[in-house]
Amino acid sequence: MAKQSSNTNLHKAKNNKKDEFYTQLSDIENELRHYKDHFKNKVVYCNCDDPRVSNFFHYFSYNFEYLGLKKLIATCYKNQDADLFSTNVSDKAVYLEYTGDKNGNSVPDAHEIGVKPLEGDGDFRSQESIELLKQADIVVTNPPFSLFREYVAQLIEYDKKFLIIGNLNSVTYKDIFKLIKSNKLWFGHSIHSGDREFRVPEDYPLTAASSRIDEKGNKFIRVKGVRWFTNMDYTERYEDLILHKEYTPEEYPKYDNYNAINVDKTKDIPIDYVGHIGVPITFLDKYNPEQFEIVKFRKGDDDKDLVINGKSPYFRIIIKNKKL
Ligand SMILES: C[S@@+](CC[C@H](N)C(=O)[O-])C[C@H]1O[C@@H](n2cnc3c(N)ncnc32)[C@H](O)[C@@H]1O
Repeated sequence: MAKQSSNTNLHKAKNNKKDEFYTQLSDIENELRHYKDHFKNKVVYCNCDDPRVSNFFHYFSYNFEYLGLKKLIATCYKNQDADLFSTNVSDKAVYLEYTGDKNGNSVPDAHEIGVKPLEGDGDFRSQESIELLKQADIVVTNPPFSLFREYVAQLIEYDKKFLIIGNLNSVTYKDIFKLIKSNKLWFGHSIHSGDREFRVPEDYPLTAASSRIDEKGNKFIRVKGVRWFTNMDYTERYEDLILHKEYTPEEYPKYDNYNAINVDKTKDIPIDYVGHIGVPITFLDKYNPEQFEIVKFRKGDDDKDLVINGKSPYFRIIIKNKKL
């Protein structure tokens, strides 16, 4: 029993270490410029952000006046299990509040930022963090991937606007897919392919071949399948996906257990097919809710994974062209 719990702790420790990577300012800027109008007079909360390393805090404090923010809050998580993994310099969780530049130099000076201690460890699920969440209009951060489901559920429960980073594969989680299907969650604008570079702490377990150390000794990893997830609208979301192929039964066979054609590449969706169509999850990168309806995910009529000629393709989303 004791052994099992120490294994669980060790596993948790590993996961925690792996969650410790920091978003680059350029990635934040590239996404945030599509939402400027959403931020006027709003309280922004970054709830997984140590302000000393978080570029989210940096971005919002330096762009406070430009965006017309009302308040910026950041909470910093400090895992109390310090002997198992200690990536943080300080062992006390704090939160910060910034209400804009006071001395006219357009820069968030240290004395303008209110630093307050937290009783607990700054976990986004703690009552203290929830009280701060309640004050917020918009939550923007890169939360721990290992808690993504719980993290999104909390944002929905408290009815918040949000813009967060996650992994493409989380769309395959039941609860997340449900939100996407009901148009309560969609991908952001700027990341739709490839991988992204994140800075990591000194002791990050570097296993990936895709890691780098810069001339100053900072470590970076490249992470695949990163996406922004949001419930804030932006104009480009309503651009139609341009289609050019026509339907033929030979090129587009149907599933054995569902009345839909299978399409392996989003760009090959036939322009003229009226019925249900199975597409890869990367279709969501091009999804315009006025052009397509999302019908369901993954399963056929028998509630088993979609099968075509006896074989299951990787996850498929069933869609329907609304304009036909
Ligand atoms: C992927 S990192 C991103 C950090 C920062 N938001 C950024 O983008 O640079 C996720 C962060 O969440 C923190 N974290 C892990 N578990 C947490 C929890 N339960 N509550 C709040 N923050 C947590 C980690 O310490 C880590 O710094």
